[in-house]
Amino acid sequence: MINKCLFPAAGYGTRFLPATKAVPKEMLPILTKPLLQYGVEEALTANITQMAIVTGRGKRAIEDHFDNSFELESQLSGTSKEFYLDEIKAMIEKATFTYVRQRQMLGLGHAILTGESLIGNEPFAVILADDLCDCSGNGVTSQLIKIYNKYQCSVIAIEEIPLTQIERYGVISGDLIDGTNNTYRVANMFEKPNSHDLIKFSEDKVDLNKAPSFMSIIGRYILTPDIFDILRNIKANKNGEIQITDALLAQAKQGRVVAHKIKGKRFDCGSVKGYLEAINHFAKKDGIS
Ligand code: UTP
Repeated sequence: MINKCLFPAAGYGTRFLPATKAVPKEMLPILTKPLLQYGVEEALTANITQMAIVTGRGKRAIEDHFDNSFELESQLSGTSKEFYLDEIKAMIEKATFTYVRQRQMLGLGHAILTGESLIGNEPFAVILADDLCDCSGNGVTSQLIKIYNKYQCSVIAIEEIPLTQIERYGVISGDLIDGTNNTYRVANMFEKPNSHDLIKFSEDKVDLNKAPSFMSIIGRYILTPDIFDILRNIKANKNGEIQITDALLAQAKQGRVVAHKIKGKRFDCGSVKGYLEAINHFAKKDGIS
């Protein structure tokens, strides 16, 4: 059973400055809903009700969003605008929200380790709210839980990314173990490779001039709790960040990571281009033009 979902949401969001100077990136809206609300919805549809959020300085809006707002509620009560609050109120009723602050932004791996006190000793889901996914069937977290139930090890979500964009992502290599469910046993991983790294990573098996795409990690995971001990012992990279990819690689070397190629569309809302694409996609879906 996966009961808890961790949302690392402490990053600076520098690519969205100045918007993110006082507003958390995870609270930027796609139409009327903040990114993080989409993430919580995805967790709820995967039958997870315990939301564990890693926040940081200047991120108080997140806690206020998932709480009652008595003044606003009483102002709107009995008016024609009352329904605007229905959706978020219903969500708050269904879930519990706990928070911990990351005091130093030392990377995603460090943010996940900071969440340990909220998770404890059980497997858990991770959603990076700035990777927004829209699936016609099961949400990505539900897809990953299905794979976790079969293999009982860490599961990462992947998609094909063109070679030209690969420097922004983590790449994986591995063997297909279930063609029907697009599942791979992960053998190797590399965070944000440059072309030199890719040649090394591919061990000359891939002709980079011909390889149109690589399997890249996106912001959805199921992690087994031994990841915390591994993260505690990971050294920071040259930018001073602790990478989740390094911890997952340690599990992968023991054959304990599988990757699932997601069914659905993902938008990189951590970049302005991806954010705009997401807004256009959801506007079209809602018939707004
Ligand atoms: P990003 O790599 O997108 O970093 O983090 P960022 O700081 O949010 O954005 P830029 O690159 O400065 O524009 C991916 C996810 O990990 C979280 C972020 O909040 C985001 O959800 N994160 C990152 C943390 O919680 N803590 C960190 O130290 C770093």
